[in-house]
Amino acid sequence: MLSMDPSAFVPHVAIFPFPAQGHVNSMLKVAQLLSLSNFHVSFLVTVDTHDRLLNHTDVLSRFGSEFHLQALPGGISLDEMNTRDGVGKLYDSVNTIAKPFLREFLAESPVTCVIADGILSMVADVAEEINLPIIYFRTISACAFWSYFSIPELLQAGELPLKGNGMDITLTKVKGMEDFLRGRDLPSFCRVSDLTSADFRLLSTETRQTPRARGLILNTFEDLEGPILSQIRTVCPNVYTIGPVHAHLKARLATKCTSSNSLWQEDESCINWLDTQPPKSVLYVSFGSIAGVTKEELLEFWYGLVNSDQNFLWVMRADLIIGQEGKHEIPVELEQGTKARGYMADWVPQEKVLAHRAIGGFLTHSGWNSTLESIVEGVPMICWPRFADQQVNSRFIGEVWKMGLDIKDTCDRDIIGKSIRNLMEKRRGEFLQRTEQMASMARRTVNEGGSSYINLDRLIQDIRLMCL
Ligand code: UDX
Repeated sequence: MLSMDPSAFVPHVAIFPFPAQGHVNSMLKVAQLLSLSNFHVSFLVTVDTHDRLLNHTDVLSRFGSEFHLQALPGGISLDEMNTRDGVGKLYDSVNTIAKPFLREFLAESPVTCVIADGILSMVADVAEEINLPIIYFRTISACAFWSYFSIPELLQAGELPLKGNGMDITLTKVKGMEDFLRGRDLPSFCRVSDLTSADFRLLSTETRQTPRARGLILNTFEDLEGPILSQIRTVCPNVYTIGPVHAHLKARLATKCTSSNSLWQEDESCINWLDTQPPKSVLYVSFGSIAGVTKEELLEFWYGLVNSDQNFLWVMRADLIIGQEGKHEIPVELEQGTKARGYMADWVPQEKVLAHRAIGGFLTHSGWNSTLESIVEGVPMICWPRFADQQVNSRFIGEVWKMGLDIKDTCDRDIIGKSIRNLMEKRRGEFLQRTEQMASMARRTVNEGGSSYINLDRLIQDIRLMCL
């Protein structure tokens, strides 16, 4: 009998992210990691995201002819995305408009396997219909994933909906987090009393369907989330931890910098400004790609920053302020303080910023990509989470990993100023010791012999075997 060498096969993988910045960013990095093993990759996104990727990145020149960027109908405009239920609208559009085109593409292309965003179980429906193997990728942390997955247990035990002082009560039904997870640390969509919100149903129901896939790829690493990964493996035995994917890609390409997957134009001028600042003197401030703030919240942060007497670089997205358009009156003391110590930009090359020697801290919304980018560079964080997974991430950063301060649910200029001084001055040594230790583990895991490196090779081998 002839033995078959799996490395002789060239698999064709179709990758389908939820078409928002944080999802596209990490899944495009996975696409690039797979194409380094000579896989054919089709990356499927809705038409608006397709066009923005082509406008703002060099995505096509990074891959060879084995890469195909496919636009599918569906998606919503940036203006719609910035409305209160923008994410829900995008989800509906992907599920209704894009779905038939996805089915047609998968049925008619010689695809070996589909890697789908784990919040899109409709892809599993399609894959099952046409008998195609599916692997899920989640863009969130293992700890957030596990808290989403445990929601039915919380409901059954009556710990959800949160009652009375439930925000401060320690919960008992998320295994592995019994000692420190409070109501306020649960995903934000658990904060409603009737638990019928679209977000609640969507994220809880979608997550519970994960075992339908042949495997689950997570953008994390064993040294960071080992105990929670053990819990996840009791329900999804085949977990591939291959993160942090941005660092993994750099390691495999043997480069210090990778190209950006940004859906906005990046303002590189901030790097010139950072070049003029002393080492570890600048606090980087960004609330990610979706979260907004009210004008009142913005002012509290602004006063907190200026009063802290630290230098800062602040990403002030054009759509950051909720419900306000046009120019705003800026109090003169804030204008002066910013001129003296600050730099504002619409959108920056964040990986490059966090790697800059001038950065000493990160005031973040605790999105998972931002968290990993900060961890890899050893930058301590002040966490002000806004929605979904961010509340859980910030609890882990503050309480479990001790890499920063979790100030969720407060927005007061004095507390913000005090937290900044603590992070950048008073407790700087303590935080840096933890973050530098974790940063070196993150770098080790993506190099030869590290667990993420080994898991990526296992994923590649498993997909090749699907060709047999
Ligand atoms: C949300 C979730 O909170 C997150 O956990 C999930 O994985 C995706 O959706 P988002 O607001 O997009 O995330 O935050 P985050 O995951 O941190 O992703 C933002 C990305 O935008 C990061 O990769 C960051 O580097 C990039 N970014 C941000 C820039 O390139 N420039 C900027 O100025 C700001």
